[in-house]
Amino acid sequence: MREIESVQRKGTTLNVKFDDGETITFEDCWLRDNCRCSKCFNAATKQRAFHILDLPDVSFQEIEFNKSGLTVIWNDDHVSTYTPDFLLQFHNKIWSNSRRMAPKLWRGKVPEVARIPAHTFINSTDGAKLIFQSLLDYGLAFVEQVEPTLEATEVVCKALGGIQNTLFGGMWTISPEPGVNDTAYMNIALQQHTDLSSFTEPAGLQVFHCLRHDGIGGESVVSDGFYAANRLKEEHPEDFAFLTQYNVEAEYMFDGHSYRYAAPAIELDRFGDLKAIRFNSFDRAPIAFDKPEECRAYYRSMKNFAKYIEDPACQWQFKLKPGTILAFDNFRVLHGRTGFTGMRVIGGTYVARTDWLDKARSLELIK
Ligand SMILES: [Fe+2]
Ligand SMILES: [Zn+2]
Repeated sequence: MREIESVQRKGTTLNVKFDDGETITFEDCWLRDNCRCSKCFNAATKQRAFHILDLPDVSFQEIEFNKSGLTVIWNDDHVSTYTPDFLLQFHNKIWSNSRRMAPKLWRGKVPEVARIPAHTFINSTDGAKLIFQSLLDYGLAFVEQVEPTLEATEVVCKALGGIQNTLFGGMWTISPEPGVNDTAYMNIALQQHTDLSSFTEPAGLQVFHCLRHDGIGGESVVSDGFYAANRLKEEHPEDFAFLTQYNVEAEYMFDGHSYRYAAPAIELDRFGDLKAIRFNSFDRAPIAFDKPEECRAYYRSMKNFAKYIEDPACQWQFKLKPGTILAFDNFRVLHGRTGFTGMRVIGGTYVARTDWLDKARSLELIK
C-alpha cells in the first residue's frame, strides 16, 4: 500500500507526490470524471454512471489529504475520495508498462512452448495459465491428449476463447479435394502466410488438429513474424518503415466471395511495439501506385521481409499427429506446410483475438 506524501494545488491541477518519490499531475476534469462514489461509478458493473456530456464543469473548493487518501470537495458540494493505489495506476510509465506486450522472439525450434494435456488445460487455472502465457510469449501452444475428432477439438477451441465464424464455418476440416482450386485444399507445399489478410478482423488464433494422415510429408512449418520484423528493422530500416505505413491490399475472391482489405504488413501499436503481421503473398491484390518509387519500395520491402520468414533457419518444422492440437497467434506467427501424399485431414477453427485476450486478461496474465 503506497502513501500520499504531499498534494499541491496549482489552479486547475493537483500535483500528488507519493512516498516512493513519484509525482503525478491530475487535472480537475480527470479527477471528477474518475470519482468512484456510487453516484459516479457503478461498482457492480464497473461502468461509469454518467455520460461525458453530464460531466460538470466544476472546480476545487477544498482539498484534504492524509497518507491513505485524497479528498476533493468540489464547488458543487460533491465529494470525491481517491486511494493512493488507485491514483498510482495512472502514472504514465506504470500505466503504459502494464499494457505493453512482452513477446519473446524466436527462430527455429522453441522447446519452451507449452505442451499441456487437454484435461489440465480445460479443468485447471494453472493449466490454462501455461497455455495462454505460451501464446503471449511465443505465439504458440500445444494441447495434448485430445481424441482425434472434430467434437473433442471443439471443446479445446471453446476453452481457447470460442469459435470465430467465417465463410469456412465455425469448426472446419481441410483435406485434399480434387477440383477445388484453393491452395489449402490441395496437397502442395504452402509457404509462410497469415490467414484472412483480406478480412477487416483476421483470425486471432488458428487451431489445427491433424485428425488423420495416411501418407508421407505434410509437416507443419511456422515462423515468428515479430522476429522477422525485428530483423527487417535492424537490417533494412527503410523497408521496415515502409511496411509499417503502406496499406497492402489483399483480396479473396474464391467461390463467389469478395473480401478485400488494405492494411500494413507490419502494424505497430500505440506504444510503437509490434502489433500484427498480415502477410499472404498469394492474396495480394494488384495495386495502383501513386509514384514509381512507391512501387519499387513495395517490391523491395515485401521481398526483404519474406526472405526472413522463408529462411529455413527461422522456421520450425514438425509433424502434427492425431491427439495433439497446435494453437497459434495469427497476428504474429506465420504458417505453412510441406507437400504430402495420401489423405490428410486437419480439423480446427479460428478464435477471435478479442476472445483469447479476454481469457488471458481474466487469468491476470495481461492488463
Ligand atoms: Fe493458412
Ligand atoms: Zn462522485
